[in-house]
Amino acid sequence: MRFFSRKTVVFAAALAAFAVSGCSREPEGPDYVLTYAENQPEDYATTLGAYEFARLVEAETDGRIVIRVVSDGELGDEKEIWKQLKLGGIDFARMSLSPLVDDLPKLNVLFLPYLYRDDTHMWAVLDGEMGEEFLAEFEGSGGKALSWYDGGARNFYTVHGPVRSPEDLEGLRIRIQSSEMMEDLVEALGAVPVSMAFSEVYAGLQTGVIDGAENNWSSFESSGHYRVAGYYTVDEHSRVPEVQLVSESAWEKLSAKDREILLRCAKESAAYEREMWKRQQEEAERAVREAGCTVTELSAEEKEAFYRCVEPVYDKYCAEYMDIVEKIRKIGEHEREE
Ligand code: GCU
Repeated sequence: MRFFSRKTVVFAAALAAFAVSGCSREPEGPDYVLTYAENQPEDYATTLGAYEFARLVEAETDGRIVIRVVSDGELGDEKEIWKQLKLGGIDFARMSLSPLVDDLPKLNVLFLPYLYRDDTHMWAVLDGEMGEEFLAEFEGSGGKALSWYDGGARNFYTVHGPVRSPEDLEGLRIRIQSSEMMEDLVEALGAVPVSMAFSEVYAGLQTGVIDGAENNWSSFESSGHYRVAGYYTVDEHSRVPEVQLVSESAWEKLSAKDREILLRCAKESAAYEREMWKRQQEEAERAVREAGCTVTELSAEEKEAFYRCVEPVYDKYCAEYMDIVEKIRKIGEHEREE
């Protein structure tokens, strides 16, 4: 038998709580509600990293800092997000390094073509002292860098046929991120670079405005580009690290304790993102192959032919940083020889 309806019980409980609290206090809300921009979809590894970051920060600050993740590029393309972040209109963002180099040219070093032997090599660089030094490079730019996220290796993909050598790229219109170095890289391989926002690439491929593009497995799959450009060449021309940023104006408002929490949570979320990334990359590769795309793997000699074409890019962008390039090349080298 029920003596009270559910509604009555809830009402009575609310009344009791009202009496206990002395009826005067408003329920306490967070001290800060901050926005986090992400241009990938909800289930993408970097977005999952962002949600993990938001979860950790909220838990560690007992709800004082709430971070709202806005995914799918809803806050604009990366160039726009960077502009907004510098102005303090957006508080956090995860970004690829390419669109940042107009302001921070030294970052070009980190995604020079064919720089890293593999992802273990890249992570040995980013997890070490050098990674911290590059994060510090952002000082005074309007954005503070918190941690590195994985963005895999970028590969070329095309609409009309496979690419096995630079000759196969000759004259093809290839979409690039907004970066002068990427422009020179594609030009050095004989193709025609076309800079365009990531969100416009699908239509560009479909309508023939471009003949191809370049990106990692995860983006190739999740963007659906593989449906309109079915030839993927695993040349791994660049690994473009991704970075988690906070606007300097948001950072300045926070206490030393909160800053320390943000930094710690950013690093923890980065470790989580890397796990998610591995999983997504594998699944993306499987899905793309199952969908019937032609995947072209290159031998070491074939890769070498690409590298020879793009070598001048090193002189143009990193002549003054060749000592850093040499240091990067040496990192982890002895472990390989053993
Ligand atoms: C990757 C990266 C994005 C970037 C995109 C691009 O997918 O994760 O942040 O916008 O490359 O090619 O523009």
